[in-house]
Amino acid sequence: MQTAYTKDELRAFLAPMRGRRIVFVPTMGALHEGHATLMRQARSLAGEQGVVVSSIFLNPVQFDNAGDLAAYPQTPEADLEICRTCGVDVVFMPTPDVMYCADRSMVMEENHLSTVLCGASRPGHFAGVCLVVSKLFNLVQPTDAIFGKKDYQQLAILRRMVRDLDIPVQLHGAEIVREADGLALSSRNVRLLPQHRAAAPQICRSLRAAAAAYAAGSAVESVRESVVSALSAIDGVRIDYVEIVDAETLHTPVCDNRMALLAVAAWFGEVRLIDNIELVRA
Ligand code: PAF
Repeated sequence: MQTAYTKDELRAFLAPMRGRRIVFVPTMGALHEGHATLMRQARSLAGEQGVVVSSIFLNPVQFDNAGDLAAYPQTPEADLEICRTCGVDVVFMPTPDVMYCADRSMVMEENHLSTVLCGASRPGHFAGVCLVVSKLFNLVQPTDAIFGKKDYQQLAILRRMVRDLDIPVQLHGAEIVREADGLALSSRNVRLLPQHRAAAPQICRSLRAAAAAYAAGSAVESVRESVVSALSAIDGVRIDYVEIVDAETLHTPVCDNRMALLAVAAWFGEVRLIDNIELVRA
């Protein structure tokens, strides 16, 4: 496995690979089994002839909260070991100075899907994601890229970006990877206090119960309310949002003949957790 610290090193590695399938998994580091699953999927998609590229870059531009950026775990040695064991061919690890010009003045704004859910509570977050992902796509020029469905809104916005800007890459959404007790894997989970870690699987339990109720025909508002009351009952938890939206537009109303999305964001102490589940009528 190669490590590229500069754009030139990355380009030099990839130049002889053009024409092959190049599968890309962008990350911000602090890798866990969720990322490892994406990388193994990338390896199998690329096959023996293809190339798997990953990036580890804690993108300051997508953080709306300086404290969250400062507290974000960084584990570069362990990250590289995970990339190696998952069959990644090259890891791009730039610093912010390598990635961005000091006087950069471009913005990348999506202004429909980004106005709701996490976009409503984290102003500028998705513009930062779109900026960095479009730069990474330009550098790597992948044929395929894989993103986890835990960040469902991010995936929907990136699909829109690729569609609207004619970026020649195929995006793949990977299922959420969970702990045995249901908690969705996240780099932020290590920051949970023990009492919050113990309570956090309640998110997944309430989502699964809600999906079953929705499938059985319960009304949208009562399904949503069931999650709100399950989470409100937990000590020290503050709900950011619990919403049921159309899975493609991320807006309401939801139609019975289209897939819906139940999405949750909640603060467990100082840590903001997100999770979601797709809803279909049986
Ligand atoms: O999902 C993430 O880890 C980040 O938002 C991404 C896509 C790597 C962009 O920084």
